Amino acid sequence: MVQVTDTTVPRRPDPAVDGVSALDAALAFESVLGRLYQGDCLQLFPEIDADSVDLLFADPPFNLGKDYGLGVKDSLGETDYLTWTSHWITHAARVLKPGGSMFVFHLPKWNVEIGHLLNDLAMVFRHWIAVDIKLSLPIQGRLYPAHYSLLYYTKGKPRRFQNLRVPIPICRHCGGDIKDYGGHRGKLHPQGLNLSDVWLDIPPVRHRSTKRRAANELSEKLLRRVLEIASAPGDVVLDPFGGSGTTFAVAEQLHRHWIGFELGDCEPIVGRLRGEQPRVPPKNLGDARKGMKRPRSSTGARLVNLFD
Ligand SMILES: C[S@@+](CC[C@H](N)C(=O)[O-])C[C@H]1O[C@@H](n2cnc3c(N)ncnc32)[C@H](O)[C@@H]1O
Repeated sequence: MVQVTDTTVPRRPDPAVDGVSALDAALAFESVLGRLYQGDCLQLFPEIDADSVDLLFADPPFNLGKDYGLGVKDSLGETDYLTWTSHWITHAARVLKPGGSMFVFHLPKWNVEIGHLLNDLAMVFRHWIAVDIKLSLPIQGRLYPAHYSLLYYTKGKPRRFQNLRVPIPICRHCGGDIKDYGGHRGKLHPQGLNLSDVWLDIPPVRHRSTKRRAANELSEKLLRRVLEIASAPGDVVLDPFGGSGTTFAVAEQLHRHWIGFELGDCEPIVGRLRGEQPRVPPKNLGDARKGMKRPRSSTGARLVNLFD
């Protein structure tokens, strides 16, 4: 469990009255390695020094009308959403150290735009990683959407890059190889295949007994991979859209320092970092409503519509 500095106070300090910084006033949780601030990332980012963060991971609201609780808005007009995106992306690039890395998890449609914004900020493109989606909804008149995009940029030449290996995939029924490797199976590296830019092995976090929040919790496996590729123990990782705190939980496990922002309810994050069991609000109530209520496939599994 995370070593915690208890920040329970009867009232949140007011910068104007108590002479504390806006960042200190927003502090919602503190551990030995990290700090979580509750507030709008556009107000918190300016409090972070330029060139101070090794790795920034962002999984922003997708503008799909999800209910994140506490009135967090997730349905802007497309122009307003892009303007808002350009503001936080500019801050994100500013706080990165030279050589630092940025990963943005989003729908392909929006990561195309974010790529343009990052190019304009002289960030260096590394990869468009396709993260396989299990069970999305088919859409009439379009190809079947089967991946989320994970953009990977660096601020100049990367300071950290770990070329990871993944286990050689095997058939889960017969235990045999699923590819023949052109007859060169024996020459494969004993520690597995080089990680590619197509990730088929990231599980969704959909089961109610393991979710922290109803909407959009990412798998720890995804975050572990990102942190292992582009950071080292002791580095500083920032996530401006905390959600259920996946980035912070993984940063703790991998001994990275972390800075987190979350505009909505921080309790799921705090509970998670304190080692409490997941508890998602009852179905169709509050935060659970829009994130969970989705059609089911013929097998009963929930489907995700990427374009609504
Ligand atoms: C897609 S979720 C992130 C999920 C997270 N990656 C996880 O694994 O749990 C986006 C989060 O951003 C938060 N958010 C939305 N607008 C924000 C803003 N302006 N500043 C900070 N957080 C914001 C939402 O409340 C939501 O929790």
